[in-house]
Amino acid sequence: MSSTAKEAAKASVTVTLDGTNRSTTLPLLTGTLGPAVADIRKLYGDLGVFTFDPGYGATASCESKITYIDGDAGILLYRGYPIEQLAEKSDFIEVAYLLLEGELPTGTQLADFRKNVTNHTMVHEQLRRFFDGFRRDAHPMAILCGVVGALAAFYHDNLDINDPRQREIAAFRLIAKVPTIAAWAYKYSIGQPFMYPRNDLSYAENFLYMLNAVPAEPYVNNPILSRAMDRILVLHADHEQNASTSTVRLAGSTGANPFACIAAGIAALWGPAHGGANEAVLKMLAEIGTKENIPQFIKEVKDKNSHTKLMGFGHRVYKNFDPRATIMKDTCHEVLAELGIKDSPLLDMAMEMERIALTDDYFIQRKLYPNVDFYSGIILKAMGIPTHMFTVLFAVARTVGWVSQWKELIEDPAQRIGRPRQIYRGAGTRDYVAVDRRS
Ligand code: CMC
Repeated sequence: MSSTAKEAAKASVTVTLDGTNRSTTLPLLTGTLGPAVADIRKLYGDLGVFTFDPGYGATASCESKITYIDGDAGILLYRGYPIEQLAEKSDFIEVAYLLLEGELPTGTQLADFRKNVTNHTMVHEQLRRFFDGFRRDAHPMAILCGVVGALAAFYHDNLDINDPRQREIAAFRLIAKVPTIAAWAYKYSIGQPFMYPRNDLSYAENFLYMLNAVPAEPYVNNPILSRAMDRILVLHADHEQNASTSTVRLAGSTGANPFACIAAGIAALWGPAHGGANEAVLKMLAEIGTKENIPQFIKEVKDKNSHTKLMGFGHRVYKNFDPRATIMKDTCHEVLAELGIKDSPLLDMAMEMERIALTDDYFIQRKLYPNVDFYSGIILKAMGIPTHMFTVLFAVARTVGWVSQWKELIEDPAQRIGRPRQIYRGAGTRDYVAVDRRS
């Protein structure tokens, strides 16, 4: 246990094993914000019982100083700063520094950090060849996962994760190279030449440039769209111990190569219950087709046997509203206005679904509200980004969160290999039977 946790352990919980005279007192730890946490580490030793928490809904897996969510109040803080303030006043590179280093940078620190990240935007030329191994119709998340994992092959033998300077360089490399690989995954899928990064552009501008520019024509940056992209990156940069971050931490806890750990995070993010939801929202809207079909769709969602979910709704932690969704909705209106899109059937449908869902008992009782993915897909589509790239974009943003959490894990003296236990419900011990004697 770290000293912070030790100092905070003032109260305790006593657990008694029914039918025995055995009990144990567990320290109750308190963080800066949020509910107290019972430290169950000695429970098994004292009472011989494990805890059972599939999906980890009631389990704190680590101590962290990076991100805080209050799901009931709809609050999201990066290093203590409200997401609304960061989305309005900061930019992605500054937020990346904040997440990694814990404080907002001074002007000099920010300039140095920006330079360090841009110094690493190119990938080893040999890495280009990895793309040729994929089918043209491969999902870009599959390509991203494979190629980011392949970075481990370029930076493995000489990487010592116990050296802070080497961890810092790995962080720069990941934050800088993932957009390049992501944009190339897209270019590969449409058969266009790869665009090399431009270090004179901002992070968001450069990413849009690598996605949209072609060598045959001059590229014109649209500041409103790059601002919107920057905001999307800020909103997705970190989100506490979600599935992909926990995957990165679990992989990292073994001492694995950081590039491989981030590839594991990308794999976890891809699922439709997680980062894949932004793509799923658009598919859902396309399937519903028109506003008139929404009531029938909502009926289907409420029917347990249909297994249909309202994608972009609900969250494990937010039970009031997702503050990212509110900012995303405003950004959506700004982007559509900038692009001169007066009538967006998709946005109309999304707003109508939100209206119906927010007044329907099924959603009210279950505290299901639009999450960050509900509006992000509509913005991205309006910006000309194809649906299958949505989750890739999420991965570009979340890379900084994953790297910050990986770094925090490695630097935590209390860290040890992640290794959950189970309730075994399989067969009891039995003897092997030869094949000719089995009935
Ligand atoms: N549509 C319809 N019903 C839902 C939905 C939904 N989107 N989400 C939850 N429910 C119901 C669920 O069926 C359950 O009902 P009941 O109590 O009758 O069995 C109840 O609400 C509680 O849901 P849960 O499955 O226990 O909630 P969870 O915390 O395990 O799941 C979730 C959270 C985000 C996976 C889920 O809400 C979901 O699948 N949402 C749709 C996918 C989505 O938008 N994901 C993006 C999440 S935000 C970005 C990110 O994290 O990457």
